[in-house]
Amino acid sequence: MTQPPQRHTYGRAVLQVAGLAAGFIVAVSLGRGAFQQSLRPVPPPPTPAAAPPSTVTAGGFTLSSTSIDWPDDPSTYTGAGADLMNNNCTACHSASMALTQPPLSRAQWAATVDKMRNTYKAAVAPKDVPAIVDYLTKMSERASGGAAPPGQAPAAAATGSTG
Ligand code: HEC
Repeated sequence: MTQPPQRHTYGRAVLQVAGLAAGFIVAVSLGRGAFQQSLRPVPPPPTPAAAPPSTVTAGGFTLSSTSIDWPDDPSTYTGAGADLMNNNCTACHSASMALTQPPLSRAQWAATVDKMRNTYKAAVAPKDVPAIVDYLTKMSERASGGAAPPGQAPAAAATGSTG
């Protein structure tokens, strides 16, 4: 009597699964061996005699390490309205960005604050804009020793811009 074919197929499948499992176990133990190998204590590296080289040359390039001191820029807005300015206008750049501008007209300052809000996404509440523009305009008036320069052409404002 021969076995029914279904049973034969079933037996083959069992053998295949067993073979796969055996292969898996072999692979895992091989991998484990390699892993344990990698855990073996590595001989300690030669004690660093001196600080790492400050210059590295390779492939026609020379890289030199150096140390730099960032410029001190403690500038903040001062005087009446300074809190509003320091809260709204020093998150991304220091106050000197505005303090070092040439005297600008009210319209130019309004355009600058608009640019900060719309282009650079400064989180300035719309209700604070008039007071900020006012502060900046008064600052320009003081700097120019009187009234802010009457509306210069926008091109002139661009010249005074840092970017
Ligand atoms: C979300 C970030 C951000 C905030 C907040 C911000 N600025 Fe700026 N500001 C910038 C960037 C970016 C520039 C361009 C810097 C550059 O060109 O190097 C800039 C440039 C400037 C300049 C240079 C002139 C110009 O037009 O580019 C002035 C003046 C200025 N900001 C004023 C202000 C004032 C006033 C406020 C507060 C209302 C403010 N910023 C808030 C991002 C910001």
